Amino acid sequence: MKKIITADKSETFLHPLLQESYHSHTGAVEESLKKFVEPCKIKELAKTGSVKILDMFFGMGYNSSMAVSVALKENPDCVVEVIGVENDSKIVEKIQSVNPDIHFFNNYKKITKNNLSFTTGNVTVTLLLGDAQEQVKHLQDSHFDAIFYDPFSPKKQPEVWSKELFAEMARVMERTAILATYSCARMVRENMAAAGLFWNDGPKVGRRGPGTVATKWA
Ligand SMILES: C[S@@+](CC[C@H](N)C(=O)[O-])C[C@H]1O[C@@H](n2cnc3c(N)ncnc32)[C@H](O)[C@@H]1O
Repeated sequence: MKKIITADKSETFLHPLLQESYHSHTGAVEESLKKFVEPCKIKELAKTGSVKILDMFFGMGYNSSMAVSVALKENPDCVVEVIGVENDSKIVEKIQSVNPDIHFFNNYKKITKNNLSFTTGNVTVTLLLGDAQEQVKHLQDSHFDAIFYDPFSPKKQPEVWSKELFAEMARVMERTAILATYSCARMVRENMAAAGLFWNDGPKVGRRGPGTVATKWA
């Protein structure tokens, strides 16, 4: 897999078949913070003392490791639970070969294809390895405060932006939870709405156009 250095010096890779990169070229770390962690209000959630995050399409875990860093900086006593979903162990192994400027990321190096879970202090991270559409069925109703939704683009991977998968997201979202994604594609927003979610523009950073944030309330 070809490594790419993005504009903020953080590393990502190019998917060899899809010819799409795992992160925005304008800054992989910046994208994690601005497109996922900030719109999901992780800092504010950390003040409550507990944050439950679903990191969909986990890859190398930049989004959730950034979220843990932000949460612990805000409240070192915060209890954080991360569940990641990813179907490709090859990208999970790449965690060992990157060093993004994310404070908590070194802990993610404990994750290998033979060790999918770790706990350190108040933080537990568990990776579900398998197809998203199958893995989400095992998740508890109304469990998560935040969902990072980060598959490849709707053009390359329309099946993971479906009404059915968004309905599963709605099912596992707590009443006040926020889902954030980088895409603003019409098909994405229509499928969110068809699944009973309310959407709004997310921040405009890096990749063209704003992202989308979705909630269970209007
Ligand atoms: C844009 S990348 C996500 C990058 C990731 N968030 C990170 O910080 O490294 C999309 C990820 O979705 C994974 N993926 C693609 N199809 C999937 C599926 N059906 N189920 C689970 N994961 C999938 C890919 O292997 C890839 O790691």
